[in-house]
This record gives sequence, C-alpha cells and structure tokens, in this order.
Amino acid sequence: MDYFNYQQDGQLYAEDIAVTDLAERFGTPLYVYSRATLERHWRAFDSAVADHPHLICYAVKANSNLGVLNVLARLGSGFDIVSVGELERVIAAGGDAGKVVFSGVGKTAAEMRRALELDIKCFNVESEPELERLNQVAAEMGKVASVSLRINPDVDAKTHPYISTGLRDNKFGIAFDRAPEVYRLAHSLPNLNVIGMDCHIGSQLTELTPFIDATDRLLALIDTLKAEGIVIRHLDVGGGLGVTYNDEQPPLPSDYAKALLERLENHMDLELIFEPGRAIAANAGVLVTRVEYLKHTEHKNFAIVDAAMNDLIRPTLYHAWQAIVPVVPRDGEPLEYDFVGPICETGDYIGKERLLKLEQGDLVAVRSAGAYGFVMSSNYNTRPRVAEIMVDGDQAHVVRERETLSQLWQSERLLP
Ligand code: LLP
Repeated sequence: MDYFNYQQDGQLYAEDIAVTDLAERFGTPLYVYSRATLERHWRAFDSAVADHPHLICYAVKANSNLGVLNVLARLGSGFDIVSVGELERVIAAGGDAGKVVFSGVGKTAAEMRRALELDIKCFNVESEPELERLNQVAAEMGKVASVSLRINPDVDAKTHPYISTGLRDNKFGIAFDRAPEVYRLAHSLPNLNVIGMDCHIGSQLTELTPFIDATDRLLALIDTLKAEGIVIRHLDVGGGLGVTYNDEQPPLPSDYAKALLERLENHMDLELIFEPGRAIAANAGVLVTRVEYLKHTEHKNFAIVDAAMNDLIRPTLYHAWQAIVPVVPRDGEPLEYDFVGPICETGDYIGKERLLKLEQGDLVAVRSAGAYGFVMSSNYNTRPRVAEIMVDGDQAHVVRERETLSQLWQSERLLP
C-alpha cells in the first residue's frame, strides 16, 4: 500500500499534496517520494520479525537520496551498502555505521579501510582473495573485521536474467560446494572474525519458494560449520522481495517472514538480516512528467513527454513495465500511446501501448519509480538530472535540487 491516491477532486495526490501543485512549484520531470510510504514499507519488514533478533538493512542502491536514508535512519534502520560512496551517504544522512553491512564483489583496500575506521557491522565477503585482502587491511590497522560469506546457493530466482544473482553462472558469492573450505580459511585468518552467512539470489522475486530453498541450503551449511566449531551468529537473506508494478502479487513481508521463521525453528538465536531495497522504495515514488507533444502517425500514437531514458532507464534496460497514470484524468475515449522521451535513441521510451485520454500539456505520473529510478539516471544528451521531492503529509521538501546546465560541465576543461 502506498500514499499516492486520487482524492475527491479527482486528482492524483502524494499524501496530502496534489501532484499538479508539486509540478507547478518544482517543475517537471520530477521525482516525488512519500515519507509515509517509505516508513510503512520499512515497518512491514521490521514488525514481521519483531519477535526474533533481526536487523533491517535497507539496500542503499535502490534509492540513495540523503532524505530517503535519513527517514529510514530515524526509524533505526541498518543499511546494506556496495561502495564507500554509499557508506559516506549513510553517515551524512545520520545512519549508524554499526548497522551497516558491506556487500559487493569488488571492494578496494581503501573502501575496506574506511569501513573499518567506522566500525561497520559486517563485511559480506564474496571471494577468497577478498578475504585475504580484508585480513591484511585489518591487520595494518590493528583491527579485527567482522565477516560474513556470501554463499551462492544455486537456486533459480525465476526473475529477469539481468537481476538474477544466485545461479552458478553469476559472478556473485562463493559456490555452495566450496563454502566450508572458504569458511575454514576465513576462520584461520587472525584479523577476521567470522560472524555471518549471507546470500542474495535476485531481485523482483514474486514467489517464496526460491527464498525458502536458499534458506534451507544455508541453514544446512550453518549446521555443518557448527560441527567444525565455526559458529554463525547471523543469517543475512539479502533483498529481492518483489513489488507490484502491474498485476504481480508478490508475497507480503509478513508472509516471507513467517515462512522463514518456520525454517528457523532450530536456530532461534540466529539473528536475521534483510536487505530490502525495491520493496521499501519502489512504490514510495513516482516520476512526474509533462506531455510536450502528441504525435499521431498512421501506425501509432506517440505521447512525447519531458522525461526520458536518462531519467528512468528501467523500461529501456530491462523492458520493465511501470504504470503511467494521468495526474488529472480526463473523460472521453482513450487512445493507445507509446510514451517516449526527447532523447535521440529508438530505445528511449517510458511505456508502450498505454490507453489514456490525453491532451498536450497534461501531466502523467510513472508509478513505482522510487527504486532504481533517480539513482540510475544520467546526463545523457546533456540533460540535467531532475529534482527530487519528499512529501511528508502536507509538506513538500526538496531533497535534491534540479541540476543546472553549468553544473554539468563544471569539472570539464578547454584545452590550453
Ligand atoms: N542486497 C544485495 C547484495 C543486492 O545486490 C541487492 C540488489 C539488494 C540487496 C536489494 O535488492 P532488492 O530488494 O531491491 O531487490 N536495477 C535493477 C535491480 C538491481 C538489483 C541489484 N541488487 C532494477 O531496476 O530492477
């Protein structure tokens, strides 16, 4: 559930503010987030496992705006990061480094150093050379790094191949069969403290089975290790819970937690960590865009909008489908439109074959744009990145100003 609804005057609102008003005040294209929705989604995870030791580590990559991170930090959220940049954002947003887990296959020594300096909760290590490097960096600093190993459970997440990460062919994690050996190595290194096991099998999963299969495999591994004297204190199940973009019916966080807790019957002291990104942020944001032109051809109708693939690349990159809804719906016979942007690429589209009644100048909202939206935007075609607004009840806060043109080339230089 989210707080983007049509109210009595027939218009789309973000919480208590008409989206039309936001577009007038801040211009378009515009990312609009709802604080109440972010909080609701975070709490859905937190309360689902309230009776079990747990930590919700929001996956910063989904939406790393400081305002978004700050809203979650105030709830006591942990954070899953994949770069030192994300770590610094968490700190700048008031997050607690002690609740940060650091994922990713390519951590540099400098990134490790900074994370150790800040005493993060855990490094989610993905390979043996990474273990060796982390041990060395920690030794140089006279520290002991807490580590979890990311295990690749080789289960099929049944999602888009670009966002499926738990198969043997993927670059992520340590092969299940080699896990005991790598844990032994980690355990033997003096500046590492083995505390966890993690996995992340993919994103936008709409079924529980792959999660449960992965958990079962990891729990068996945890038991094997225990018999060898390697005690795992937390199980990090990653992110990946899907959202409704169209008619998907992903499990609720409470269904997911219930199924997991049943599996944990014999592991009641194992802390559970979740790394949700999309499930918290996607439906807490919309991209508001204005129809610049309507172009009717013999074969197709195009709605040329002021947002483009540089603002929201998911449709182009993954053929992702996101709902496009009118901000002020019109009566009358709808037409089928392809929503395209002004960028010089055939792939520059936001949605295809959508039935809407439109006029030039109308505003539409692209739904489910709060995750992997702004963060994946670029300046292609020298387009400034758009503003981001956080709505909180009847208040709208600019959490990122629209870029200006001169900012785009301020670090570029002419030849002498
Ligand atoms: N943890 C790890 C280690 C991850 O790699 C990811 C996402 C997450 C957590 C969060 O997953 P989520 O709960 O958001 O599914 N750009 C793509 C999604 C890429 C996801 C990458 N990893 C998209 O727009 O669909």
